[in-house]
Amino acid sequence: MLQPGNNLPKTILLLLLAILPFTTFAQQQATPSWARETAEEKAKRMQWWTEARFGMFIHWGLYAVPARHEWVQYYEQIPPEEYKARYFDKFNPDLYDPKEWAAQAKAAGMKYVVLTARHHEGFSLWDTKYSDFKAPNTPAGKDLIKPYLDAFREAGLKVGFYYSLIDWQHPDFTIDGTHALRNSKEARATNSNRDMDKYRQFMKNQLTELLTKYGKIDQLFLDYSYPGPDGKGRQDWDSEGLLKLIRKHQPHIIVNDRMDLNDVDWGWDYRTPEQFMPQEWVKDNGRRVPWETCQTFSGSWGYHRDENTWKSTNQLIAMLIETVSKGGNLLLNVGPTARGNFDARATERLEGIGQWMKYNNRAIYGCTQAPEEFQKPDNCFLTYNPETKRLYVHLLQWPFKTLYLPGYKGKVKYAQFLHDGSEIKYTSRSNASASEHMAITAGENDLIVHLPVEKPQVEIPVIELFLE
Ligand code: GLC
Repeated sequence: MLQPGNNLPKTILLLLLAILPFTTFAQQQATPSWARETAEEKAKRMQWWTEARFGMFIHWGLYAVPARHEWVQYYEQIPPEEYKARYFDKFNPDLYDPKEWAAQAKAAGMKYVVLTARHHEGFSLWDTKYSDFKAPNTPAGKDLIKPYLDAFREAGLKVGFYYSLIDWQHPDFTIDGTHALRNSKEARATNSNRDMDKYRQFMKNQLTELLTKYGKIDQLFLDYSYPGPDGKGRQDWDSEGLLKLIRKHQPHIIVNDRMDLNDVDWGWDYRTPEQFMPQEWVKDNGRRVPWETCQTFSGSWGYHRDENTWKSTNQLIAMLIETVSKGGNLLLNVGPTARGNFDARATERLEGIGQWMKYNNRAIYGCTQAPEEFQKPDNCFLTYNPETKRLYVHLLQWPFKTLYLPGYKGKVKYAQFLHDGSEIKYTSRSNASASEHMAITAGENDLIVHLPVEKPQVEIPVIELFLE
């Protein structure tokens, strides 16, 4: 009766079997020669980054002057000339001291940094030959990128650039639905005179400057694509051409995933979930992939004076731990002020994170998701160092005297607090003494960890378990 329906899955299966080898072959064929790399080579190229786990994002540009979000020009639909007229000659970062930035990043435990060389407003922080809309022409009076790189490299951090694919100032960038002038008919009418070919060349010229004049650049964050009828994607940017150029100048560089090349393996190095916490290790086609979540202290990337939804230090530390517990990196953003310093709210949080990292960074660097067999105890996150085979239990909420580790019996050799290296005792149901009442409630294979009643003086205490 159901003959045709029954045959259908078989037909599909056969079809898939026929197509699969071909698609794999076709995909391999489609990988351009300059992009070929084995999985091992890629893992090696990304090793420092995977181990680092924690970096600083810096959003700094003209938008620090209005101080109402880096998208202020878009939100308030400010025409480019007006934006320039209002803010360009007000950009006077007399307190700009990138050594101080680097010192704060380092003290917070960050291992790398990514600075917005140019954001959507189109303002370049360096002395580019290809635009007048640049920092050296403002009261800043100089290239701001070089001192940034010098300072962070000197502090031992890896360095990167954010570069916007979007440009609301460039005369050849066509007005689309994401443009500051999206609602202006007159502006849209100028599209016929705008030449995206020239814009594509402009981006190539600028990227060539950034990638050839400043030594080794470790990471590049391109932002972003919004393909569709009133948007822009890989053709508009010539994403393949851009990536080829990037890899030619800096073969080791690590590049994010916002060029609209995510359907091919070679089009990106890592995924970038933004402003939310993924539920689990980020996957692509069912495969776990390198990922980095970028997050803000408050609801804005650029300095926003009146934005008050600031996350607490505790929340930020927990965010870092959770990210690593799911195999990812955290790129935490600071938006320096128009005068060039980090504002007090940012500094306070960086110091708090640094205080925690000073004693607990062993549970972050080189760590990743715990092996499947280790289940998360109540109110905890787990991170794991596969080299040292140590498992870290992060106690988000301090329990009363006892922590149950479900199914850990026989897997742990030794336990200690990470912050002070003090031994922590544990038992299990079968070897508990008669006075250990809690043992009655523990499962046969659980470990019962004995904790002091008082929470140690650490924002989020960590137990280090030496595994068998
Ligand atoms: C978004 C926003 C932007 C910010 C970036 C950070 O794409 O356009 O303002 O720079 O995310 O990831």
